Amino acid sequence: MKMDHSLKEEAKRLQKELTEHSRRYHVLDEPIITDSEYDRLLKRLVEIESQYPELSVADSPTKRVGAPPLDAFESAPHSIPMLSLDNAFEDDDVHWFHERNIKNLDVNKILYTAEPKLDGVAVELTYENGILTRATTRGDGIKGEVITENVRTIGSIPLRLNTEQNPVPALLEVRGEIIIMQKDFEGLNKRRLGKGEAEFANPRNAAAGSLRQLDSRVTATRPLTIFVYGVGMVKGMAFETQAQMLAVLKTFGFPVNKHIQTGISIKEVLSFYKKLAEIRPDLEYEIDGMVIKVDRLDMQQALGEKIKSPRWAIAYKFPAVQETTTILDIIVQVGRTGTLTPVALLEPTKVGGVIVSRATLHNADEIKRKDIRVGDRALIVRAGDVIPKVVKIIKSQRKGNELVFEMPDRCPVCNSQVRRVADEAAIKCINISCQAQLTQRIKHFVSKKGFDMEGLGKKIVDQLVNEGLVTSFADLFTLDKDCLEKLDRQAEKSVANLVKAIEESKKISFSRFLFALGIDHTGENAARLLALEFDTLENLMAADKEIIENIHGMGEKTAGSVIRFFGNRENKNIIHQILEAGVRIENDLFARETESNHAFSGKTLVLTGTLETLKRTEVKKRLEALGAKVTSSVSAKTNFLVAGRDAGSKLKKAVNLGVTVLDENDLIEMIHD
Ligand code: IVH
Repeated sequence: MKMDHSLKEEAKRLQKELTEHSRRYHVLDEPIITDSEYDRLLKRLVEIESQYPELSVADSPTKRVGAPPLDAFESAPHSIPMLSLDNAFEDDDVHWFHERNIKNLDVNKILYTAEPKLDGVAVELTYENGILTRATTRGDGIKGEVITENVRTIGSIPLRLNTEQNPVPALLEVRGEIIIMQKDFEGLNKRRLGKGEAEFANPRNAAAGSLRQLDSRVTATRPLTIFVYGVGMVKGMAFETQAQMLAVLKTFGFPVNKHIQTGISIKEVLSFYKKLAEIRPDLEYEIDGMVIKVDRLDMQQALGEKIKSPRWAIAYKFPAVQETTTILDIIVQVGRTGTLTPVALLEPTKVGGVIVSRATLHNADEIKRKDIRVGDRALIVRAGDVIPKVVKIIKSQRKGNELVFEMPDRCPVCNSQVRRVADEAAIKCINISCQAQLTQRIKHFVSKKGFDMEGLGKKIVDQLVNEGLVTSFADLFTLDKDCLEKLDRQAEKSVANLVKAIEESKKISFSRFLFALGIDHTGENAARLLALEFDTLENLMAADKEIIENIHGMGEKTAGSVIRFFGNRENKNIIHQILEAGVRIENDLFARETESNHAFSGKTLVLTGTLETLKRTEVKKRLEALGAKVTSSVSAKTNFLVAGRDAGSKLKKAVNLGVTVLDENDLIEMIHD
């Protein structure tokens, strides 16, 4: 069949246009057409190419949708081995690396390039006369697997080099790391869960698994992307420095990471490491350190390579946040509300620079789900400063003598019966005078957000409860100098401070008082809502469940537990004793402390127009509780104007004065922040 000339032209035009749109989308992040428009153009090109396969050139954007499955991956040698890197773990290692380079090169100054060490899959992309002809994995460094079809589906990898700024080299092997962005990883896992498929453990595994597909049409559905950081064999072009190489690769259309510092001294390298560690949690992808490279390529060549790693580069790793260790035992802790929490005792291991010897296991269901046994090897993580947790068990390392854990049917502290809470995974000790619960409740009672008894730390509370000096909240107020001095390691000065702190804590706002009681499901927020609604303890104690439930923002569970708490005779007794001891509960609006860190604290607001969901009097009360002043006229001193429906002259005035205007939704959001 003779080909229509205009079709050939159309195909060429579409190929060019689609390539440019793809680059704009994936590399520049500046698309100028919609996704559906792109799909429409691509569909047209697929149509033409399937009619005339000779038009389907190697760099046609149609190649990105995937090709028929392979039986197996071929293996291919790298023209230049893909080495790995030596690791540095502290500044001294880096200094040593630098000193060695200075000595070997016999110079007195070396500049470096420092790059994030991306945690993905290393690949090599071969471009012959500007066209992507082959892609391989790193493999064992000497030879890798050919994954060309899979790599072609990755939108940010150019199928043809953009040679507007630099001439096309006869051969260019580009090296880089294929990764999955954090948010894409989460989306991918969500979709897999929805389909009943297993989740990937981390973005690197997901990237590796996606590249290992024999069917590239599957790879095409995975959100892979790349950052390039080096070259292999190059013909027809030369680079002088790492910095210049990265700049040229960028002009060819490759994504180059933006957090790269080029041409810097070793001192600057070390301060950049600190900066990188700081921004690491905010990055959209995972990095596990920094790669430091001698910038000048002639120097790199002079320094040369060892068998497995170059002498001109080193990886300065971040302290690991994931580590494997052994579960030595599983113990059970009893919390403030009597909940039994299993905790793994671990063989102490450094995770993220901190020695970790325990990890929470949450509850019995979690242990069953992850099949955690005593003696198992486990992968643990520590994210931020949260308690470390067990990610998974490494079952392949089981020896067969690991012990299955059973939750006890009696409280490990007081030996009372335990029961499972309906519809919850929690198992609780039902003895409210259980010592473990008491200790935790006291700690909560005296904490910063409660009675704020400064100086009454966890260790002292343990002692007070263990020695029987404190058997209820009320006992705290009877602690005096004599009694506290009997405790070990209590210096006179700190005893005096403690007595003073206890005395000062006796004046407390209603909401803090409620929070301190540690009523189930009644945190800071619920306590504040209750305090605002009822003003006094008497009012609250007289309220029925329905009224509490109907408070805006209050949960059904909270209402139930508040009623239960105040219905309990023992609790009533203790409250009576607390008040007898001299505690004075103040109405929140007049309490000495307001929420000083809230955005509305110390600010002046004016309400105008009709509010749709909130009652004006209620809003006023809440704002005042947050430390704000609510006035009726707008002036230069007004910080916020809340404009409801049909707001009129006040709104105009506020706008003229440059006062921040909020609508009702903004207000609700900010109150809750
Ligand atoms: S340079 C010989 N630069 O780290 C030079 N590697 O341990 C080695 N990697 O296999 C490569 N980010 O997968 C280089 N900016 C970066 C890197 C990086 C991650 C990985 C790469 C390599 C491994 C070496």
